[in-house]
Amino acid sequence: MTELFFQRHRRLRQNASMRALVKETYLHKEDLIYPIFVMEGENIKNPVQSMPGVYQFSLDHLGAEIDEVVSLGIKAVILFGLPAEKDATGSGAYHDHGIVQEATRFIKERYPDLLVVADTCLCEFTDHGHCGVVEGDQILNDPSLNLLAKTAISQAEAGADIIAPSNMMDGFVAAIRAGLDAAGFEHIPIMSYAVKYASGYYGPFREAADGAPKFGDRKTYQMDPSNRMEAIREATSDVEEGADFLIVKPALAYLDIIRDVKNNFPLPIVAYNVSGEYAMVKAAALNGWIDEKSVVMESLLGMKRAGSDLIITYHAKDVCRWLEEK
Ligand code: PBG
Ligand code: ZN
Repeated sequence: MTELFFQRHRRLRQNASMRALVKETYLHKEDLIYPIFVMEGENIKNPVQSMPGVYQFSLDHLGAEIDEVVSLGIKAVILFGLPAEKDATGSGAYHDHGIVQEATRFIKERYPDLLVVADTCLCEFTDHGHCGVVEGDQILNDPSLNLLAKTAISQAEAGADIIAPSNMMDGFVAAIRAGLDAAGFEHIPIMSYAVKYASGYYGPFREAADGAPKFGDRKTYQMDPSNRMEAIREATSDVEEGADFLIVKPALAYLDIIRDVKNNFPLPIVAYNVSGEYAMVKAAALNGWIDEKSVVMESLLGMKRAGSDLIITYHAKDVCRWLEEK
């Protein structure tokens, strides 16, 4: 009989200690950024129907949530605001006492070490729901830039540690960097939503942040899911304009893009595990169709393996609990 020659891969999988020794990718609490929706008003803790476990909070209910976030070991939150009133230019986004600015002050006063990332966009604050200034059915690029810079400056004045512009106008990083620098905030980093696709996975977020466009869609400013080279162009321009972090969004259907961006740019890469990705997992888990913990941990590990250094995720609190278990 001839000798068989083959590799014994199972040698390195034979028990838990051996598997731990050769583990290549880890998920840490420090990797996570937890999104929080803050709403103007009082005594509000509204459950978001399509995102079980996620709420809209008025400031008087925010304290308990932040206490929990900090006690679980989360180091950073990203804030989205729901104003009492909307208008054509989204003035609530750059009001000194806007909801994001007030929530930032509240959090930084209570927990100076908890990093506050401020999402910088107009869509939650405009009556038309678009991320920029609208004329007819057009979303205007350049007139939106000044408003974004104003928003970022007012967020920094309120104490935001990181500015995260999500609106996908051309030049938004340049405008915000120049605005921050001129206002004395040259030390505040920009976490740019550099590579953001026009995605069906944002559906539940638009309920959570009340930011759905009232007409049309976002395809003239967000990217076509078919495109890979375009991601490199988008990331390149943001890096040239001064971005400190690069976000790729959504995450699960774009793991190839995360890897491309990681391989091409020596900056911290952030995966945004978006609302629709969260909603799908929650719905299946609540039906008993999947094991939530194993599916979530596997998905987030996949994002890290693809090349993300950080993950913005609605699962962050659960993940911290699960990381404590073992
Ligand atoms: C708005 C914004 C969106 C998300 C983050 N910022 C929605 C959109 O662009 O329509 C999506 C987040 C999520 O789905 O979790 N600029
Ligand atoms: Zn927007």
